[in-house]
Parts: sequence; structure tokens; C-alpha cells
Amino acid sequence: MQRQRRRWHHHSDPVALRTALRRGIERAARESIRQRGGFHIVLAGGQTPAALYRELPSLNTDWRRWHIYFSDERCLPVEHPERNDVMARDCWLGQVPIPRHQVATIPAQHGPALGAMHAHRALTRSPAFDLVLLGLGDDGHTASLFAGLPGAYSRASAIPVRAAPKAPAHRVSLSAVRLSSARAVWFLAIGTEKASILRRWQHGAALPAGRIRPPSGVDVFTDNPV
Ligand code: 6PG
Repeated sequence: MQRQRRRWHHHSDPVALRTALRRGIERAARESIRQRGGFHIVLAGGQTPAALYRELPSLNTDWRRWHIYFSDERCLPVEHPERNDVMARDCWLGQVPIPRHQVATIPAQHGPALGAMHAHRALTRSPAFDLVLLGLGDDGHTASLFAGLPGAYSRASAIPVRAAPKAPAHRVSLSAVRLSSARAVWFLAIGTEKASILRRWQHGAALPAGRIRPPSGVDVFTDNPV
């Protein structure tokens, strides 16, 4: 398996960092739509992306060409405020005219096994991702890929997670293999609480985030010195 190639992008000013990300997403969408007629993007969960998502309704883009996926979902009832798809909808997706059938929410409300099965089936019909946005936990997890849990090297597109150390314990995650099937992967490691795990990652620690190995390498965006 190829090594993970990483590029570090440091912006000490969070506003400048979000501007760089916003412009990069707009550019990636423009290029994907021009070249392939659509833009397939995976959204990170957690709280970090919320500030960036709130700035995306202003993008100059053809929203009808966007296809949305989620890196993972928590096994919570539909509409639960701690679901990743609810956060993305409230901050952004609810304000733009992306056709509903082009937003591939993960049915994690059915539990890890059924949710992963449905997500896997849906993903087998989707092309390689144009852009994957991922968060980074302070233990080095990404999506719902946590150290020591089964499924690390699953060939399935989506896996069940039953003992996540970050609540809730039950989740559905896209697999490392599927998240690596992407033209670009950007990690959003923003906030001083990410500084320690970023240093460990830089110094070669074996982390779940290190399992994401797209051919083009990954880009890590942070306001921490790198
Ligand atoms: C989740 C996320 C998870 C998140 C990291 C970082 O469902 O919790 O998918 O992978 O991205 O834990 O979370 P924060 O952005 O809230 O620090």
C-alpha cells in the first residue's frame, strides 16, 4: 500500500484560512463541472467545518451539478441536532438549490449494520469523489475511523462502527479505501486543540487519518504552525 503523501497549508488567521478553502472549493467545483459535468464532494462531520460551511452559500457555482456525500454519520434519529447531515443542512445545504436526490445522506438512524449496508450499496453507483473534506480528531481519527476498531482495511465503501470512543458509540463511516478513491482530500485541522495531534502526525505517528491515501496525496489545512 502506497505511503501517505501530505502537504501542509498554514494560515494563522482563521478568516484567511476559510477564504482559501472557500476559493479552493469553488475552483475545484468549476473544474470538475467543466471537465466531467458534475462535482462530487464528501463533507466532513464534527464542528470544525461549520464556520466554513456557513460561507459556502455565497459561492459562484451551478449548484444543480453538485453531488453531496458524508464522510460518516452518527446513529441518531433523523433531524437529531448532532447528526452531521443536520449540521451541514443548517449551515449551508438548506440554503442552496442542490437537487435533493443528489444529497446522499447516510441512513445511520437504522443502526450501524443496516446504515452501512445502505450506504455501501448507494456508493457502489457513485463515481470517484472529486473532493473529500475530512476532520481530524485529537486522537488522530477521521470520519468515524478510530484506532483499534475493526474495518480499518475493509474493501467495502461504508462500514459499521459500534464502539467509537467519541460519542455516540454507534456510527457509520465511509471506509479508508473509499475515502482514498478521490482526486483530492483536504483535512481541516483548525483550532489549537489540534496542535498536538498534528505534531504527532508530522512526526510519523501511525494514525487512522494516515490511512487515507489518495494517489495525489492529501492536503492538511490548519491555523496551527506546521
Ligand atoms: C464526527 C466527525 C469526526 C470529526 C472529528 C473532529 O462525526 O464526529 O466525523 O471525524 O470530524 O472528530 O471533530 P471536530 O471538528 O468537532 O473537532
